[in-house]
Amino acid sequence: MSTNNNVMVSIDHLHKSYGLEKAVKDFNIEIEQGEFVTLLGPSGCGKTTTLRCVAGLERPEAGEIRIGDTTVVAPEKEIFLYPEHRNIGMVFQSYAVWPHMTVFDNVAYGLRVRRASSNEIKSKTMKTLELVGLDHLADRFATKLSGGQRQRVALARAICYQPEVILFDEPLSNLDAKLREQMRDEIVRLQKEVGITSIFVTHDQSEALVMSDRVVVMDKAVIQQVGDPQEIYANPVNSFVANFIGVTSLLEGKLDARDGEVCSVDVSMGQGVEPLRLRAVGAAGAKPGDKINVSLRPEDVTLHLERPQGTDHGNLIEGNVIDTIYLGSFLEGRVRVGPHEIGIQIDHFENLVADQTVYLSFQPEHGLCLAN
Ligand SMILES: Nc1ncnc2c1ncn2[C@@H]1O[C@H](COP(=O)(O)OP(=O)(O)OP(=O)(O)O)[C@@H](O)[C@H]1O
Ligand SMILES: [Mg+2]
Repeated sequence: MSTNNNVMVSIDHLHKSYGLEKAVKDFNIEIEQGEFVTLLGPSGCGKTTTLRCVAGLERPEAGEIRIGDTTVVAPEKEIFLYPEHRNIGMVFQSYAVWPHMTVFDNVAYGLRVRRASSNEIKSKTMKTLELVGLDHLADRFATKLSGGQRQRVALARAICYQPEVILFDEPLSNLDAKLREQMRDEIVRLQKEVGITSIFVTHDQSEALVMSDRVVVMDKAVIQQVGDPQEIYANPVNSFVANFIGVTSLLEGKLDARDGEVCSVDVSMGQGVEPLRLRAVGAAGAKPGDKINVSLRPEDVTLHLERPQGTDHGNLIEGNVIDTIYLGSFLEGRVRVGPHEIGIQIDHFENLVADQTVYLSFQPEHGLCLAN
């Protein structure tokens, strides 16, 4: 385990199954004090299970989790702390506010069960309510609040007793689009202001990318990649991450040869058709003959209406327009290239019609070779 003093949550070789089904396989991460880490992945990939193991709501069969200096679970050492003995706050998707209590009593709850003095309860609760902008509603019953206000109460209740870590499980998914964005920004602001270590679960990639210091991308119970949003977006380690994180076109092919950073890849164009030779970067461990997907992001593809004369980098692709949509300030479209579809995005209007022949080019460093 780490010797880094700044580590607030450490999850080490965590395994959790339900019957024969593995919900989380060999999950490892160290989260620093004050860090905002998001678990991102499709439904059923194990995000909630991981979070519930940290909370103490599930018992893993192997591994170790530490919060601060305390080992909260380690089945091999027969250690298991109940949720109330772990220094954590939780916010879930359903607004778990208590309807029979006022806003104040909801938020003060954590301090009361920890037997804080009444002065402390009053001052800390009011201060937290101010932080989330609900101090004027302290005496109102929690049933008489809007969805967004209830979620603020849940947030205030989770941070009021100053836990070391706060766990969020899709807290925004019941809110409408506008409120969702507003609450998202508010959570980030509050998290930075209070400096509390946070683990946030979502299946919404844009939410993960805008909110997080680091993103953990999961699929089928396994971590696929951990990195900051920029890294995850620009350098996905495999096709799953590339596809899940953003719009990207994947062109299947085979590695022909490598020259330093740059690979030449033969992209299959269908049976009996000469493959398309493209140059792109990545796939460090791949050997000639290995299957490679070339990943292209729409914003990295340049559109030409006429065949350009001598593109120096050689990545020139002829195709036919499938369709386009005009989205205010830019145009998105799809271009058919043999059996493939390539997404494009251009920042000006272009009157493209279906089946029109167009030419696409990209710089080798914008094409990413992915080994699977
Ligand atoms: N209590 C349970 N009993 C049996 N299987 C469970 C239980 N909870 C979760 N699972 C299974 O474990 C796997 C992981 O579930 P988990 O709830 O962690 O997924 P998730 O990533 O949070 O998905 P979602 O985005 O849908 O919330 C799933 O296949 C799920 O069916
Ligand atoms: Mg879940």
